[in-house]
Amino acid sequence: MMQPALILVVDDDPTNFDVIETLLDGQDYRLLYVNSGDGAIAALEHLEPDLILLDVMMPGLNGLEVCRRIKAMPTGATIPIIMVTALCEKRDLADGFSAGANDFISKPINRIELLARVRSMLQLREQYKQLQGFNTRLEATVQMRTAQLQALSIKLLEAQETERRFLAHELHDEIGQALTAIKINLRRLERVTTPQASEPLEDCLALVDGTLQQVRNISLDLRPSMLDDLGLVPTLRWYINRHAKRTGLQTTLTCELLAQRLPIATETACFRIVQEALTNIARHAQAQMVAVTLTQTDHTLHLTIQDDGVGFDQSNLSRAKGTSLGILGMEERGTLIGGQLNIASAPGQGTRIALQVPLATSV
Ligand SMILES: Nc1ncnc2c1ncn2[C@@H]1O[C@H](COP(=O)(O)OP(=O)(O)OP(=O)(O)O)[C@@H](O)[C@H]1O
Ligand SMILES: [Mg+2]
Repeated sequence: MMQPALILVVDDDPTNFDVIETLLDGQDYRLLYVNSGDGAIAALEHLEPDLILLDVMMPGLNGLEVCRRIKAMPTGATIPIIMVTALCEKRDLADGFSAGANDFISKPINRIELLARVRSMLQLREQYKQLQGFNTRLEATVQMRTAQLQALSIKLLEAQETERRFLAHELHDEIGQALTAIKINLRRLERVTTPQASEPLEDCLALVDGTLQQVRNISLDLRPSMLDDLGLVPTLRWYINRHAKRTGLQTTLTCELLAQRLPIATETACFRIVQEALTNIARHAQAQMVAVTLTQTDHTLHLTIQDDGVGFDQSNLSRAKGTSLGILGMEERGTLIGGQLNIASAPGQGTRIALQVPLATSV
């Protein structure tokens, strides 16, 4: 059952309350009276009326000030206020509206006018409540969908890593071994071949060598097996060296970890974040130096990747257009292991990517 609307009447003169009570007699409203601005503000600490009828001229806090204060309160901001006033200059009305009043009624109060204004303000209140209800339901739906999407993201990333691990293994072990066997056989043939066949044979050997190297590289790029076998620090050391050799960037790695191994999801996320950050640096930063640090303090893991390159204006990130996914992916990976990724960058000032992960909760 919906309760009748609650109207708070604020007036220093009780006779005015009696007048309002009489005029609203027979209507399905609950009326509450306070005789000062302070009283009104105190009343709003523990109840939420649907409408306030507020006298303007009162000793102590005047109506305008009370209105301003009520509108600044979290619950008060959405309660309609009708100013009850003997002043009817345009200037007084303007002052009232700028203090946050929603409507005015002039003294002496006319019954029909009062009923119409009260009804219209209560409708406003009702619409606000409905909107609030929609909003609450919408927020709950968004929260549920976000949780579902995160669960899906975790599953997708896990599936992607499993697939990459499998492909890297197949390439390295199966195809790599087959190519090595071909190479051995070619070498044996080399010893017994005719002079005419030796040139194409050399050609084949060179091709096999090149393909073996390619297969190894693809396999390592997909997922270095040392991430599973040896852990994050040796893998980062190897990856950063390889990246530095390829790009000519001066790169340092500083690791101060307390634990030998971290949860596998954390190790994978950190590795992928470093991989994307270094790829971005090579592609966009025009940097000379890169510093990667991995440290641990009080159950928190800190990973930073800092470059001295051209930097970028973060407000220009075109992630909304869906064209750049790298940074979005880094943030997503950080969030999914319970961490937070912050990017600090500005044109001409390099870029710093910092990930913090609470270790106790990241499993
Ligand atoms: N270290 C960096 N230095 C300078 N600019 C950077 C750096 N990292 C990112 N950026 C800028 O931020 C943009 C977004 O990076 P993001 O990794 O999301 O996308 P991308 O590298 O353009 O594409 P991809 O989706 O293939 O990663 C880049 O296009 C680049 O302009
Ligand atoms: Mg990128």
